[in-house]
Order: sequence, then structure tokens, then C-alpha cells
Amino acid sequence: MTEILANPPIDRTVAAMRWRVAGWRQASERVALVPTMGALHEGHLTLVKAAREKALRVVVSIFVNPAQFAPNEDFAAYPRTEDSDLAALSGLGVDAVFAPNVEEIYPAGFVTAITVGGPSEGLETSFRPHFFGGVATVIAKLFIACAPDAAIFGEKDYQQLLVIRRMAADLSLPVEVIGHATIREADGLALSSRNAYLTPAERATAPALNKALVRAGSAIRAGAPVARVLSAASLDLKAAGFRVDYVELRNAETLAPVVDFKTEKLRLLVAAWLGKTRLIDNIAV
Ligand code: PAF
Repeated sequence: MTEILANPPIDRTVAAMRWRVAGWRQASERVALVPTMGALHEGHLTLVKAAREKALRVVVSIFVNPAQFAPNEDFAAYPRTEDSDLAALSGLGVDAVFAPNVEEIYPAGFVTAITVGGPSEGLETSFRPHFFGGVATVIAKLFIACAPDAAIFGEKDYQQLLVIRRMAADLSLPVEVIGHATIREADGLALSSRNAYLTPAERATAPALNKALVRAGSAIRAGAPVARVLSAASLDLKAAGFRVDYVELRNAETLAPVVDFKTEKLRLLVAAWLGKTRLIDNIAV
């Protein structure tokens, strides 16, 4: 056990972060990273506690990554709450916070991007084609800056988790990419920083998203025809007031379309809008 710092130090530059981690690595101390865009909620804090079990040193990064937002998306409006984020992290055993500004990560002249195929195909990419390029690029940079042995991501962003795992494997990055079960409100709504955008009426409707998944998952497990189950789930969500981007069943390990429903591990994924807020969720089937 290392000393639990009430207020972890904040590194704003890649050089400072790398220097700090180099000291730990020299002492053979294992390092875990929890990448975030801030606006921390209980889901993030659960990832931090899980990271603490995986490594002696824990780094939390806070960076709202412009490269993963399209021009029409909520980059400017995305909540930036560094003071309350730092307060939420105090006492949790975080050894450093990496909170660079945009110019530190994307200096003038930056033209490099990482493209991951396979698990990034379809689903989110059909609606947010820029997204995984931005995520993969920033995560590669965060891995280089923080040099973690392990990094923890929530399964709420299941496609993101598989894309990052694929990228780490393909680039031989020495980082174990760990998924953590989605943290939910008591009514089933997956925790997300974007839930804060929901009006009270939308918040009351939002748990219908997870309920539709659970109902569809049970029907598929019981042997009901998949196409019919997915279209019923979509209709139920529309009737509840959602605008549905997709409800899809995929292979849980590759996110490829399912060939054999009986033998493959399956994952059911959904994205849908309530007013101006886009929600995603997924469950194992
Ligand atoms: O899931 C998120 O918060 C972001 O996509 C991540 C992984 C921190 C990359 O910016």
C-alpha cells in the first residue's frame, strides 16, 4: 500500500506525467490508468477503486477530447468540472491526475490519427463516423504519457472498450485493457455524464432503455426469432418517446454480426435519443 493522498498532484504536461510514472516504474510499482473526460460520477469512481485493486499506483486522466466530437456535437457544452472532479477523487488513493490542455495533446501541426477496423465497424460508427478515430488517437497518446500497465474502461461504452483493446493488441502496446461492469442507477439507467442533460420528464423515461434491452435479451435467450425481437424493442422505445439509432445483436468478442446465435457469445447494444440527449447501453445475452 502507498500513502493515500488527500489531494493528488496534477500533471498538465506529457513530460511531467512521464517523469512521475518513470519514478514509479523504476521502483517496479505497477501503474493503472483510468481515462476520463471529467464530469466524474459514481461510475468513474468505481473504476478508480477497481484500478486501485489492480496496481499500486493509480492515475486518472481528465481530458475532454475534441477529436472525438463532430462539429455538430456537444464539445463546447460538455461539462467541465475540474474542481468538483478533484474533490470527488480525494481520499480514493489516486496517485496523480493527468489534466493536459488541448494544445498539449494536439500541438499546432498535429495531423496523425489512428484508425481501428474490426470492432469499430457499424453501431456507433454508422452514426458518429469520427468517434473511434478520435478515441483511439487520444487513448494512444494517454497510454504514451502515462505508461500504464493496465487501463480500466466501463462496459457502458462496450464498442469503445473493444476498439481500444484491439488497438492495444494490434500496436503491441504493453497495456492490459480491462472492462468493468456498467454502474447503474437503482432504476437501471446506466450512469453517464450526459444524463445531466435530461429534463425531469426525460429522466423519468430513460430507464425504459435498459428495460427494453433486458426484455429483448430474455426473449432471445428463450429462442424467439432475433429479427422480430429487435424490431419489437425498437418499436417499444419509439412508443416510449425515444428516437432510435440502433438496437443490434453482435458477437460479444469481436462485435461482428452474429453467424450462429446458438454457439457465439452475444451482446445486445442500443443507442437512442431522448430529446437532445443521446443515450447508449448494452447487456450480455
Ligand atoms: O469514455 C470516455 O470518457 C472517453 O471516450 C475516453 C475513453 C476518456 C476517451 O476520451
